[in-house]
Amino acid sequence: MEQMEIPVHVAIIMDGNGRWAKERNLPRNEGHRKGTKVLEKIIKHARHLGIQYLTVYAFSTENWNRPPNEVKGLIRLFTSYLDQHIKKAAKDDVRFHVIGDVESPHIPEELRHKIKLLQEITKDKKGICFNMAFNYGGRDEILRACKRMIKENDFGDGKNTEVTEALFSQYLDTAGQPDPDLMIRTSGEVRTSNFLPWQLTYSEFYFTSHLWPDFTIDEFNTAIEEYNRRSRRFGQSE
Ligand code: FPP
Repeated sequence: MEQMEIPVHVAIIMDGNGRWAKERNLPRNEGHRKGTKVLEKIIKHARHLGIQYLTVYAFSTENWNRPPNEVKGLIRLFTSYLDQHIKKAAKDDVRFHVIGDVESPHIPEELRHKIKLLQEITKDKKGICFNMAFNYGGRDEILRACKRMIKENDFGDGKNTEVTEALFSQYLDTAGQPDPDLMIRTSGEVRTSNFLPWQLTYSEFYFTSHLWPDFTIDEFNTAIEEYNRRSRRFGQSE
């Protein structure tokens, strides 16, 4: 790993928790619980490697349609994640940030409060920036960004505000952050599922058949090794 180029920003679709639980005759929420433990290990390892941004897909705008028990379980897991990290924030150097529609009425008020609190108390941390995509949908993010951009600017005839990629990016939930260099998806599915459609345009993709609860630090390192073998041209020739 010493000789490797470490990506600045890694994004992960943590897929396969439900299948992992089913294979063991466990409730789906047990898969999500194990998945959260794996996530904690990966954040720690990513910090250790010097990765500056880690973005994970924890809950999509479509996930509200899952059985109420599973939705409740995921909300409980997230709440307990927030409680633990609010408690230990003083000793930690992780900057926590949620991407997604945090203002949605779907999100219980208490959860919204905890999200905002953890963001506020970690906003000046200098370690890794950990983005949790919660109530996130890529198309929804783009529409919310468009609406805000139109509201806050005057694009009328004779006005000199131009719609540019740079201006638009400032209204995305990832404003000010570099786009992911590498996107990892577990569980054998080979699609991006409405995750960061704007930001992943030039990212390298790494797909693995392992289910998220079985994902390991070794496999994370393998993804980075694979990333190092790719030749990134950003639409240019060699
Ligand atoms: C996809 O697996 C995974 C999710 C919808 C949730 C991912 C969430 C976690 C790993 C926990 C996140 C942490 C917090 C603190 C909220 P799936 O359920 O779609 O799996 P399947 O495709 O096998 O059914």
